[in-house]
Amino acid sequence: MNLKKTLSVALATLFLIACNHKQFVQKNNTYKNGVVVTANLFASEVGSDILEQGGNAFDAAVAVQFALAVVYPRAGNIAGGGFAVIRTAKGESESLDFREKAPKAANESMYLDENGNVIEGLSQTGHLAVGVPGSVDGMVKLHQKYGSLTWEKLIQPAIDLAKNGVRLTKLEADKLNAYRERINKVNAGKNNCCYIKDTEFKTGELIKNPQLENVLVRIKNQGRNGFYDGETAELIISEMQRGKGLISKEDLLGYESVWRPALIGKYRDCKVISMPPPSSGGIALMQLLKGAEEFNLGQYQFGSLEHIHLMVELERRVYADRATWLGDPDYCSIPKEKLLSDEYLTNRYSNIDMNGKSDSQDIKAGNVEVIESFETTHFSVVDKWGNAVSVTTTLNGNYGSKVIVKGGGFFLNNEMDDFSIKPGVPNQFGLVGGKANAIEPEKRMLSSMTPTIVEKNDKLFMVTGSPGGSTIITSVFQNIINAVEFKMNAQECVNAPRIHSQWLPDKVYVEAGAISPTVKNELQNLGHAIQEQSRIGMMANIVINEDGSLVGAPDTLRHKDSRAIGY
Ligand code: DON
Repeated sequence: MNLKKTLSVALATLFLIACNHKQFVQKNNTYKNGVVVTANLFASEVGSDILEQGGNAFDAAVAVQFALAVVYPRAGNIAGGGFAVIRTAKGESESLDFREKAPKAANESMYLDENGNVIEGLSQTGHLAVGVPGSVDGMVKLHQKYGSLTWEKLIQPAIDLAKNGVRLTKLEADKLNAYRERINKVNAGKNNCCYIKDTEFKTGELIKNPQLENVLVRIKNQGRNGFYDGETAELIISEMQRGKGLISKEDLLGYESVWRPALIGKYRDCKVISMPPPSSGGIALMQLLKGAEEFNLGQYQFGSLEHIHLMVELERRVYADRATWLGDPDYCSIPKEKLLSDEYLTNRYSNIDMNGKSDSQDIKAGNVEVIESFETTHFSVVDKWGNAVSVTTTLNGNYGSKVIVKGGGFFLNNEMDDFSIKPGVPNQFGLVGGKANAIEPEKRMLSSMTPTIVEKNDKLFMVTGSPGGSTIITSVFQNIINAVEFKMNAQECVNAPRIHSQWLPDKVYVEAGAISPTVKNELQNLGHAIQEQSRIGMMANIVINEDGSLVGAPDTLRHKDSRAIGY
């Protein structure tokens, strides 16, 4: 890293700590050679350094994934999972599914009591909530196929961060404090881990994680075996035995991430490259974009009644399809072509009435609110050759299951909650599902993560994605239509206020400023129930200008640690 950048990162960090991140927004995020956008300044710096050292976008993505596991433990992970959508400089695309899987011993009624009722919290907190992690295998596969620097070089920055320590930003200290009691409770008896403390975490406090450092060294030296076999695997298995979890040695040894053809769709003059099942993201996003095109959404003013009402009506139908048809493609047959065909969509949207809200009373209503959460994380990278990678990765809830692997210093996911644990019963994001997403041994749980790359006139145009559970799809949708329909620039797309609707619960969630009081009234008159939400989504956006320059657009307004760093 050059001196100028070291100084600017150091100053930015000091500034952030000093002024509680108040309104700190980078002014100029345009770069010539490469850019990395993540939710955390230290992680963006690691990725940008790798690019500057001659690494490609895929190298940077691997380094960022491991760095996030250290600096952003609420969502960055080695024991979670995710998806990567890639587009090479030659224009070839592909997707990598490193989603967690249900353990072999899992079954459809594992979260139900003897009367068939859901046992509250069991799929969300503690050892039974954990899916077989996919992140380490995913990074190994990404590196094997597309990496150019050595594996060791890519893991080293994360090792250094764990060893030398990371100063907590205000956001991270606040988040750890908000979850401190829950983490302590789930991990009672384990007291030599940096995340288990009797006192408050403080902004600026140095957090070192020697246990995680050791795990990362094993991953550096042994690749996937450093996690799925040997000492780390033993630690995970002991942890499972301690808390009566289901993951076995066989589950760990057998985990494989999967290369899948990316989901590709056409929307206006764009080619949209997104994530196929087991994420619902790509299909749902394409259904929405095709709706936006069919109704010529851009003809309406941004924030007008017509704009919001039309988006909501499209979203309600798309989420109903999601609940019914989507799941792990290895376990259920997904009518993908049909769901994306013009004929189907024209018919599906034909009863949208611009003067009234559609009736969905024949469908059993969910009763859970969409919770505000930023536990997943998304990062986008473009390098000087034009390779692009869009990665969304998660532990699911904040700090996942809250279970820390004793001696390992890392959190385990609670991704099992993304299954439909009982037909019609909403998960933590209010999403319902049925057979297609029921629990089965070794099945992948349905996701909403939507890492996406957009080409315009055959050229790389946008790399984007977001955390936010069920709101991911609608956030990515709005980001793209903001650019294409409403001609916003990269940062405007991200900053623009967002709304979200998902069919059940039958509500429209709106960020402050997303709709005027007049439009709110008009929407209510059409029958919509409006609920304010402080934040929806957190984009990490890159837009490629006509002249080839790269604009990184972090969602600093919603999450002040987000950064675009490039060179
Ligand atoms: O895969 C999914 O859809 C969820 N596990 C994502 C969770 C998430 O985005 C949480 N937070 N923002």
